Amino acid sequence: MRPSNKWASKLGFILATAGAAIGLGNLWKFPYLMGKNGGFPFLVAYLFFICILGIPVMIAEMSLGRKTGHGPVLAYDTIHPHARIVGYLGVAAAFFILSYYAVIGGWIIRYFVSYALTAQAPRDFNAFIGHPTEPLFWFFLFMLITALICYFGVSGIEKASRSMMPMLFIILLLIIVRGITLPGAAAGLAFIFSPRLDDFSLHSVNGALGQVFYSLSLCMGITITYGSYLQKDVSIPKGCIQIALLDTCMAVLAGIAIFPAVFACGLEPASGPGLIFVTLPEVFGAMAGGAFFAALFFLLVFFAAVTSAVALLEVSVSFVMGSWHWERKKAVILLALAIFLVGIFSSLSFGPLAGVSILNYGIFDFVCMLTDNLFLPFGGIFMCYYIGWKWDPAMLIEEICQHGVPFPLARVWLFLIRSVTPVMVAAVSLSGFVSIYQTVFG
Ligand code: TRP
Repeated sequence: MRPSNKWASKLGFILATAGAAIGLGNLWKFPYLMGKNGGFPFLVAYLFFICILGIPVMIAEMSLGRKTGHGPVLAYDTIHPHARIVGYLGVAAAFFILSYYAVIGGWIIRYFVSYALTAQAPRDFNAFIGHPTEPLFWFFLFMLITALICYFGVSGIEKASRSMMPMLFIILLLIIVRGITLPGAAAGLAFIFSPRLDDFSLHSVNGALGQVFYSLSLCMGITITYGSYLQKDVSIPKGCIQIALLDTCMAVLAGIAIFPAVFACGLEPASGPGLIFVTLPEVFGAMAGGAFFAALFFLLVFFAAVTSAVALLEVSVSFVMGSWHWERKKAVILLALAIFLVGIFSSLSFGPLAGVSILNYGIFDFVCMLTDNLFLPFGGIFMCYYIGWKWDPAMLIEEICQHGVPFPLARVWLFLIRSVTPVMVAAVSLSGFVSIYQTVFG
């Protein structure tokens, strides 16, 4: 019998971790970034960073989690007492990200329910998200589902991912077939793939770099936490490569599912909430059998979002279980409630609190900025310092190679983690700080 706080199978581990990584970033951010930044060259840059940055950092975090058997705070504590700060940043980032991610999760459920029951989109997106109470109801429902999955612990997360991730993939394929058979779809494929070197700039390179961090959910304690549930005989390098591959495939496939249909309808490409809540409903409205595909599509987005939300909640849960010795049930209920309470402000910032701004940011954007542009870069910088330089990362190689697991590129990995990653992380951080500066000081 495998212990209850470990993944029961290798497949379950891969799907759960891929589920954490595959989320809204893959669906509404990556395809647009690729289209706007030169198409194919952007993909090449992205793949390059996945290889030299994403996978190495993921290997480092996962083996640290498994070696220590703890979530981020206690894991970093074993490196150096001061390194706890990296763990705290990760836990805080996960907590606040979930507070806004779940608001969007609520909108997704609303759209799914609307298409499934009435075969139509909700009437007006902006009126819906600006309503003082309705979005809160759906937000609460999304948190409830997320909490319920976490409530059943590692095995709950594993079971949910094992059923949701394959369904997500199948639905995506169905939608791709529908989208690329529409007349005029080729323009959409051209938008994402055709190489346009003029659109590919230093800015694009930086975009690719940031997206690698965001998409693989790095520096937020998730990979460490999920790594702490991993059996010792599973190959971490192999697992990380598979997860990164799944994540990248999903991002590219999402582009193939979405943009051909958008172009076939003569609409402008967009990203973010506007793409899936405004542009796509128009596309579905114009398509034969559109309501059916729309319901399927929002189910897909829901699966992607909820498996990421579960991972985010699990980071805080494992932290209070490890550090404060709470039992899981209490941890899940109280944390989910706390996140809901904090998220209320983000949700209301589209309606009654729309006029409130903090340092020139609306509340929702402020929380995004805090997590993406501050916690993540600082967490990343400290991570490089502590794992690469303050500690001997060779200890992680020992962890990885137990039970005769091969790690042929160990030396390359060591070099990347100590010398290349810090430079890259600094680049992402810098561009984040510049964007904060621009917003705050106009
Ligand atoms: N990777 C997720 C996505 O592509 C978003 C994300 C960022 C995330 N950080 C995370 C998800 C931490 C789970 C945990 O949408």
